Amino acid sequence: MSAPNKSYDPVEVEALKPEEIERLRDEAIAAFAAATGLDALHEAKVAHTGDRSPLALANREIGALPPAAKAAAGKLVGAARGAVNKALAERRVALEAERDARVLVEEAVDVTLPYDRAPRGGRHPLTTFAERLMDVFTAMGYSVAEGPEVEAEWLNFDALNMGPDHPARSTQDTFFLKDADSVVLRTHTSGVQIRSLLAAAEPPVYVICPGRVFRSDELDATHTPVFNQVELLAVDEGLTMADLKGTLDHMVASLFGEGISTRLRPNYFPFTEPSAEMDMVCFVCRGESVGNPDRPCRTCSSEGWIELGGCGMVNPRVLVACGIDPNKYSGFAFGFGIERMLMFRHNVEDMRDIVEGDVRFTLPFGMEI
Ligand code: DAH
Repeated sequence: MSAPNKSYDPVEVEALKPEEIERLRDEAIAAFAAATGLDALHEAKVAHTGDRSPLALANREIGALPPAAKAAAGKLVGAARGAVNKALAERRVALEAERDARVLVEEAVDVTLPYDRAPRGGRHPLTTFAERLMDVFTAMGYSVAEGPEVEAEWLNFDALNMGPDHPARSTQDTFFLKDADSVVLRTHTSGVQIRSLLAAAEPPVYVICPGRVFRSDELDATHTPVFNQVELLAVDEGLTMADLKGTLDHMVASLFGEGISTRLRPNYFPFTEPSAEMDMVCFVCRGESVGNPDRPCRTCSSEGWIELGGCGMVNPRVLVACGIDPNKYSGFAFGFGIERMLMFRHNVEDMRDIVEGDVRFTLPFGMEI
């Protein structure tokens, strides 16, 4: 506050001189114009229109003036404050518009850009099915064994009782490796049997061997040059064909439901003797379509049985090749293709759908972990 007024003329109060009020007004307006952002404008607003701003203080001086001088002084300060507030409001509108325009540019979303979020995949049913199969056997005490895809010819053929001149050897459409002697892309997982027997000091051996195998077939609706097999081998004292049959029955019941059993049909494989082809009861019609034209079954072509793969009692010659005494030990084995099993289990009509890896095929199988 200034000293007590000696005059009635507000001009004599320093803070209320018209030049001073105009200066304060112009200073405030210039400060607003100089503010380049809304934060700076806020600071200028506090400094020039706040309770402790020079114009507010000048306004307070009016109260101390003699009544005759109050009106003119009030008009002067009021006009200045009005101009300041107007300038402030205009500057705010301008700065807000600038900010909005900038944000629109900075935060613009180009909806035509490619979608960059990685789409969710699906585990391949071959994987989940093989895992489920492994679970069935590991629960019975089997271990999972794996072997290399590039295999020694001796392990893929010779040790399995398929010597160089054995006719079965030429039926397997083998891929041989260029510039490499005596190795092939394995034509079946049966070689893992030999690896497992050689690795074990002495039976018992109970292994289940999943793996990729290769044959020089064209890719079509029912063939693929790369496919998956599962091989099972049990070697122990006193194993018989009844153990093989019981194991197969347990496997199909676990995978396809109670009451689904198997049957064996005589067949020939060099590495098993006796050998058999194994069939399972059709899990869709359970045999009811046989001789029943009113109830045809697509899954088993109304035959009541579905062919699974080969099996038998391990040929003693195989045991001997692995240094195991066939008089003390016996064993059983079986092998089948997983793609084929997947095809009839889920009505997949074209093998290519399984191998092409299109997520539209895998997703409907769900996210089984
Ligand atoms: N290795 C045979 C194949 O690929 C399948 C097979 C048949 C495996 C009989 C076996 C068996 O273990 O006992 O065609």
